[in-house]
Amino acid sequence: MKYTQGMLSPDSLKDKVIVVTGGGSGLGKSMTKYFLELGAKAAIVSRNLEKLESAAKELKEQTGGEIFTYALDVRDYEAVEKMRNAVVSHYGKIDILLNNAAGNFISPTERLSANAFDSVIDIVLKGTKNCTLALGKYWIENKLPATVLNIVTTYSWTGSAYVVPSAMAKAGVLAMTRSLAVEWAKYNIRFNAIAPGPFPTKGAWDRLLPGDLKDKFDLAKKVPLKRVGEHQELANLAAYLVSDYSSYINGEVVTIDGGEWLLGAGEFNMLEQVPKDMWDMLEAMIKAKKS
Ligand code: HXC
Ligand code: NAP
Repeated sequence: MKYTQGMLSPDSLKDKVIVVTGGGSGLGKSMTKYFLELGAKAAIVSRNLEKLESAAKELKEQTGGEIFTYALDVRDYEAVEKMRNAVVSHYGKIDILLNNAAGNFISPTERLSANAFDSVIDIVLKGTKNCTLALGKYWIENKLPATVLNIVTTYSWTGSAYVVPSAMAKAGVLAMTRSLAVEWAKYNIRFNAIAPGPFPTKGAWDRLLPGDLKDKFDLAKKVPLKRVGEHQELANLAAYLVSDYSSYINGEVVTIDGGEWLLGAGEFNMLEQVPKDMWDMLEAMIKAKKS
């Protein structure tokens, strides 16, 4: 078994209807592919219909699964309600929401216009709220059990310079995950989140590591395991968290980053750079101080 292989048994998501925001590219597309392989029916939704349709065609060919596309901007609540109604009338129900759509780019915060700041916050925080509220109302009114999975980041709790709107918005999404995990548990709606470290995608890399920043800041070097993530490992985790296998997991955020954020956090983690043969000398120096 390798981490690049699927983990769950083939019928793990049989007949579950999953709405994936931002499912036409990057990680959303990779997760959707695995959900289809596990028997789910997917609705991929985002702004660019052409991109969604081309992804749907590719995913259908690869998996033979059922896939529905719908163009919308998650910032627009009315559009989100229309999307929900369209998916329900297409599939008859919705069981799972994956809030994956996001906007982000690097910038010194003082360079941002008010509109630039709002664009990111509105896509990430308001968009996630819009989808969660519109689907939540439907589930609660119809007494349907459901699962919501939110994609956040490790800087949801540490914060991060140069991506401040994203950090603020993702922190809000994490707060919503934990809050509704408690409030809507009585309706049998579960909430969890995944905090990925670096998983190369065109959408993220074009905006976070433009030009030669890719080579200058090799993200694999920031990870104790010395590699970036493989999409299938994230898809495995996401499929588990939306499946019934994780029925007792509620309000959790699972980090999948090879230890990256902890490397930056631990006070003495810089000692990784001390060569092995220097430790005898260091130990002797410390012991000598005792006398
Ligand atoms: C400064 C910028 C900018 C930049 C856009 N703006 N890019 N300001 N630096 N690089 C400003 C614009 O000038 C404008 O402000 C405002 O932002 C809105 O820009 P629009 O292009 O009109 O907005 P919109 O079409 O809504 O696009 C939203 C977007 C765009 C966020 C700006 O990048 C986008 O569509 N992103 C979607 C996909 C994405 O971001 N994927 C990456 C997710 S990665 P003014 O004042 O001029 O009107 C991620 C990973 C995190 O989240 C963790 C990694 C480890
Ligand atoms: P991506 O391919 O750019 O995905 C973002 C998706 O969101 C796109 O499909 C985009 O589609 C959609 N989207 C953006 N704005 C939207 C809007 N207003 N309405 C509807 N859909 C919108 O980037 P990615 O790397 O796969 O990111 C996916 C998720 O993982 C994001 O939540 C991101 O924060 C998170 N993440 C990624 C990494 C990483 O290393 N890649 C690390 C941590 C967290 P349209 O353009 O068609 O709208």
